[in-house]
Amino acid sequence: MITINTHYLKLRASYLFSDIAKRVAAFQDAHPETKVIKLGIGDVTRALPPSVVSAFHAAVDEMSADATFRGYGPEQGYPFLREAIAAVDFQSRGADVSPEEIFVSDGAKCDTGNIQEIFSTHTRIAIPDPVYPVYLDTNVMAGRTGGFANGRFEGICYLESTPANGFIPDLPDTPVDLIYLCFPNNPTGATIDRGQLARWVDYARDQKAIILFDAAYEAFIRDDSLPHSIYEIPGAREVAIEFRSLSKTAGFTGTRCAYTVVPKSLMAYDGDGSAHPVWNLWSRRQSTKFNGVSYPVQRAAAAAFTPEGQKEVRTLADGYLNNAAIIRREMTDLGYTCVGGENSPYIWIDGKKDSWAFFDELLSNAGVVCTPGAGFGACGEGFIRISAFNSLENVTSAMQRIREALTA
Ligand code: MLT
Repeated sequence: MITINTHYLKLRASYLFSDIAKRVAAFQDAHPETKVIKLGIGDVTRALPPSVVSAFHAAVDEMSADATFRGYGPEQGYPFLREAIAAVDFQSRGADVSPEEIFVSDGAKCDTGNIQEIFSTHTRIAIPDPVYPVYLDTNVMAGRTGGFANGRFEGICYLESTPANGFIPDLPDTPVDLIYLCFPNNPTGATIDRGQLARWVDYARDQKAIILFDAAYEAFIRDDSLPHSIYEIPGAREVAIEFRSLSKTAGFTGTRCAYTVVPKSLMAYDGDGSAHPVWNLWSRRQSTKFNGVSYPVQRAAAAAFTPEGQKEVRTLADGYLNNAAIIRREMTDLGYTCVGGENSPYIWIDGKKDSWAFFDELLSNAGVVCTPGAGFGACGEGFIRISAFNSLENVTSAMQRIREALTA
């Protein structure tokens, strides 16, 4: 008799964003006359930048002639892309990352979800609350937690991000081995400064722990004092893996391209305490289970790192940041306390009421989709997240509708 991985039974029935999509679809069926505006899932709406599109077309043309056709590519990604990433995203900021340490992939969701596989089942995990659900759910699937009770999984060290700590979690008060951090943060939009991040790096070095640093939103940082990469912090090469994505920066949510940095100097230990390079494990895992991102997509991604592409990508992010500023200003004006929306495309709003009730209120009375904070964890209760990923026209109209609904 075939039996299942019973850890899956501990999970909530559906993934947060699938759950929201079902509720929105049900509302739309019942109210076909309402033009629903989606400021829920962080899915970009603006087209791919022109230099990305022309590189994409040119690569498709190469694939259409035998002389220039390409089959399987290098498992870690083409050198032309990894070299561009290392130079533009890291070396230009004084962060010591080489092209060999970059693994190109089809998404930061996949990479942040898959990375836990290379660590022991007994790994003690620290996860922020609220959190991007992928970090938590993939560890539940892997059997690193107990059951779900009182809004929490047993066996996880939750790093609370609340108004009391300015949404920057304190260091754990119990020993942990693997720490998930995301800055600029999803969902709160909070940012971390160099001193605060250095405390985490020092902690990980003391504990022989590893930090999984999700920097998918770094392109929205406009404050020059904030770090874009954990490798800008001394000592981070010995304790951190960093995840980046072109999804939100260059409009690749549908095109798919991301990358993970695993420094050659990063070690993890076996039961006898012998050190092993994590790079070898991730390389082994990826070359066994992943066959790379398509050649045209890698060419398109590389175009985002050219000087022209960089300008276009910045303009895209500036557009979303302008939306974020409008959302934050409007919600503040309506009397709500907001975090994020500066150096971040997400605005985290203290709704002062049940977050699913606030979600339903905005959907029913304004036809606007947000994300209920409770979906990101117990500390998200009472909050909603509004995403700036939409057109200026839709954001302006959504805020007008929200104002009318909340002041009626
Ligand atoms: C979000 O809305 O939190 C993100 O879009 C989810 C993702 O990137 O997978």
